Amino acid sequence: MARMIDGKAISAQIKDELKEKVAAMKAEGVEVTLAVIQVGSDPASSVYVGNKKKACGYIGIGSLAYELPEETSEQELLDLIEELNGRKDVNGILVQLPLPKHIDEDKVIAAIHPDKDVDGFHPQSVGKLCIGQPGFVSCTPAGIIQLLKRSGIEIAGKECVVIGRSNIVGKPMALLLLRENGTVTVSHSKTENLKEVARRADILVAAVGRPKMITRDYVKEGAVVIDVGIHRNENNKLCGDVDFEDVASVCSAITPVPGGVGPMTIAMLMNNCVESVKLQAK
Ligand code: GUN
Repeated sequence: MARMIDGKAISAQIKDELKEKVAAMKAEGVEVTLAVIQVGSDPASSVYVGNKKKACGYIGIGSLAYELPEETSEQELLDLIEELNGRKDVNGILVQLPLPKHIDEDKVIAAIHPDKDVDGFHPQSVGKLCIGQPGFVSCTPAGIIQLLKRSGIEIAGKECVVIGRSNIVGKPMALLLLRENGTVTVSHSKTENLKEVARRADILVAAVGRPKMITRDYVKEGAVVIDVGIHRNENNKLCGDVDFEDVASVCSAITPVPGGVGPMTIAMLMNNCVESVKLQAK
């Protein structure tokens, strides 16, 4: 049976480290504040936003919550971002996605000042990651690197296969694994012989968005399997992109759903908020 990679425990450790850092910053008179904007009342988004505010509270990061109505115009949202960009007492700005259809997400992401882009979605942040300069990194893939490192899993020289090529997970994941000297393959829905490609992996990251699609046929014996998916099955139980029981019998280590990658995303968001203060002090 595979070893379980405990994202809940590792994220708790990171949050405790951050709590100490924030207390030390406070003692020096430096406060950290995150502004969280939600447009509309999508229930899943409300849960995520609530968890982010709770994490801020635990660590000692101030949070400003903007709950805007569904019919908020694009311009009103852009005006709010502009105001927050200019506020010295706001370090990070997060606009919860997805946005209502009448608002252009790319335009909104690009409006956030890159020094406050704690989600790491701004084209400048993505560009810096691509050319190896320091900057904000998308929280889910950054959290996966922490999961691997803190579990003592070597990335350098290993075959890493990412299934999925989204801007939020797949693409930054590939760049981060490359930065750690992995040999990286990005596969996706058009990949031929996906099972064969996935079976090359020493480290397999599944970010496909389809419940339990990744069965043992996709996994080399002894591989490390990271499951980014989160779905509710027919019994309202949470499951990932990976068929956990099937895959756990062949791999060496695996992240569960829930309690794997999910908690790491928020821990890394909190880390980015703390880092943003340093960036802004420059
Ligand atoms: N919606 C789902 N995941 C995320 C995330 O990491 N950041 C933001 N802003 N919205 C999301």
